[in-house]
Amino acid sequence: MLEDKKIVLGVTGGIAAYKAAELIRALIKKGAQVKVIMTKSAAEFITPLTMQTLSQNQVYTDMFVPADKYEIAHITLAEYADAFIIAPATANIIGKIASGIGDDLLSTTIMAQEKPTLICPAMNDKMLSNPIVQENINKLKKIGYVVLDSAEGDLACKTKGKGRLPDIAEIVEEIETLLTPKDFKGAKILITAGPTEEPLDPVRFITNLSSGKMGYALAVEAHRRGAKVTLISGPTNLPLPLAEKIIKVRTAKEMYKAVMDNYKKAEIIIKAAAVADYCPKISAAEKIKKYERTLSLELKNNPDIIAEIGKNKGKRVLVGFAMETKNLLANAAEKLKKKNMDLIVANNLREEGAGFRTDTNIITIIDREGRVESFDKMTKIEAAEKILDRVKKIISRKGRSKK
Ligand code: CTP
Repeated sequence: MLEDKKIVLGVTGGIAAYKAAELIRALIKKGAQVKVIMTKSAAEFITPLTMQTLSQNQVYTDMFVPADKYEIAHITLAEYADAFIIAPATANIIGKIASGIGDDLLSTTIMAQEKPTLICPAMNDKMLSNPIVQENINKLKKIGYVVLDSAEGDLACKTKGKGRLPDIAEIVEEIETLLTPKDFKGAKILITAGPTEEPLDPVRFITNLSSGKMGYALAVEAHRRGAKVTLISGPTNLPLPLAEKIIKVRTAKEMYKAVMDNYKKAEIIIKAAAVADYCPKISAAEKIKKYERTLSLELKNNPDIIAEIGKNKGKRVLVGFAMETKNLLANAAEKLKKKNMDLIVANNLREEGAGFRTDTNIITIIDREGRVESFDKMTKIEAAEKILDRVKKIISRKGRSKK
């Protein structure tokens, strides 16, 4: 998404200025081109040379330089940028933008542009909670700037509180969101992800290899495109994506209940979870001891969540997944019909770069008319993009509906 996007990063003078170096690397790793404007105070915390080396671009610090050096910098930078980030943003720059003060290169550049702008405040907790700073932040939000919430934790001034620069990953995610066209604006999407765990006793359970990565990638992509996402997730170790609502569950029964309680509000339902088909008939209250030489487990059926929705889905778009080890297309097409889905995303566990735990997938999307679209290996985020593109086609045919 950030491939070839031009980002102008404004760095102001707070202790978190050193983290801006890491942010430049993260943006460049995603394919962005970065130019940096530093205030005089920022240069007290980290050198322009560091920023220049990392961004592979000249760093802009002065308002007044010979014309041949960089034209009228605040105008050319405003035109150059696809988006602006100010990280860290001090109370000073926030106050200046909110009050229309342009007294250095960064404040005048921000004043002279209308591009998507992400502001990441970082300061002492008392400064952040100061009513004037809060009023300024609210003013910026009202005007249309995106202001990230500062993180809580240890602060440089040896106190604990709210005021840390948000995680670099969060800043990058926000800028990607800001730059993504909002073609699912306001759409309510319910996504399930991850495995389920079916307990045998208090310390053991049956599960599968699902990591949740595909479902979480769908949640990330849907949020970026403006959807209101409800994510129902089995146990995973993944960082939580930005979503309107996240419900953590453990067992298939819990997932079933969470889906049933929430799917009616959704217009699109994507079931990427690898739900256990069976659970132990009896889950022992105490740890099972090894008295016997052999142990037989009796399993019973779990509810088939997607099949249940399929019976009452109305005009909602229902998307399922099929993970197979053989007869991929035939098995997937049969599941689509049997469970009344609109689309099924098939992937073959035996293919290198597809399936559980990888960051990539090789998907084939099948629709109700039997159209089959196969894609090469791609990242799970790219796969999520393709899946949502197909959902969009269905919606443009039959419209969005919760009934
Ligand atoms: N699914 C579900 N509830 C279940 C089992 C599966 O909602 N109890 C959903 C999955 O989330 C997926 C789709 O059904 O979207 C297909 O899952 P899969 O495990 O491939 O299908 P099964 O019907 O369980 O078939 P089998 O295990 O026999 O291949």
